[in-house]
Amino acid sequence: MSRSGAVGTVGKTDAKTGAKTGAAPLPGGNTVLVELEDGIAWVSMNRPEKRNCISPTLAAEMLAVINALEADRRCQVLVLTGAGDSFSAGMDLKEFFRDNDHLSPPERAHIYRTNAAWQWRQFQFYPKPTIAMVNGWCFGGAFTPLVSCDLAIAAEEATFGLSEINWGIIPAGVLTKAVSQVMSQRDCLYYIMTGATFDGRKAAAMGLVNEAVPLRDLRARTRQLAQILMEKNPTVLRAAKHAYRRVRTMSWDDAEDYLMSKMDQVRFFDEEHGREQGLQQFLDEKSYKPGLSAYRRDRA
Ligand code: ACO
Repeated sequence: MSRSGAVGTVGKTDAKTGAKTGAAPLPGGNTVLVELEDGIAWVSMNRPEKRNCISPTLAAEMLAVINALEADRRCQVLVLTGAGDSFSAGMDLKEFFRDNDHLSPPERAHIYRTNAAWQWRQFQFYPKPTIAMVNGWCFGGAFTPLVSCDLAIAAEEATFGLSEINWGIIPAGVLTKAVSQVMSQRDCLYYIMTGATFDGRKAAAMGLVNEAVPLRDLRARTRQLAQILMEKNPTVLRAAKHAYRRVRTMSWDDAEDYLMSKMDQVRFFDEEHGREQGLQQFLDEKSYKPGLSAYRRDRA
């Protein structure tokens, strides 16, 4: 496993193919840590002494990291987690809020925009699968990237809370919208209005995360899930997740047209011709069953 240094250029370019060779230093910084392991990029918010709360510096470094990993072939699945015992204690109440109270609205907007860029604008349509691995404290602003990740696994022992009400603000940015996408109205209003905490099991029961496992199994289970995703065709995977997010707000007619066009787009761009591989391996070779597993990509 390799670990990050400072933010750097990602990948050398092969002179013949133009492809990134992936020999470049890892992106990262003081507040974001990147570890690469067999196709998985473990990206950690890295301020454990501050419970990984999100400062403007962390937001800017995270944006640089996810931009860099986007085109880095060493990253096939991105896992977002926190260093130490916390996922993230939300926005940094000092560095993100109080320290910026004196700024003009445009100056503050610049900081908010950078944060929104990594937390949801780019993350929701990230070209690679993303998994949030919630290892501990998860409060307020940390819910936005959590919801923006495609999948999420929590430690049963993790503690979640929409704590804004406890210090006199509403869950803003886009946070209330984000939780309303995955939690029921009753659950949203209960936790927004009470600020009560809940654990990983409850988060799974509410659909905020896919599942909760004991903390000792968290990394292994996350790795297992990432490996399942890496067996799939990445072009199809990217289209499938983007399509899901896009069609949610479309009419049925628009959704049908969009999805059929998207499917054609995938066939156009899919270098490994997954559809043909899948049909051939099932119908001609009878070497696998699509209902039970993915076609063998090493034959493509
Ligand atoms: N913003 C700024 N500093 C923070 C934050 C935060 N969100 N969370 C923790 N810290 C700092 C503490 O001030 C403390 O700093 P210090 O060592 O310089 O005194 C350090 O991190 C450690 O925090 P403790 O409170 O001592 O850690 P403990 O393990 O006892 O408690 C807990 C952890 C429960 C997460 C607590 O730190 C906490 O309540 N944090 C705030 C959580 C929160 O409500 N976040 C805001 C959500 S709303 C939003 O994001 C918009």
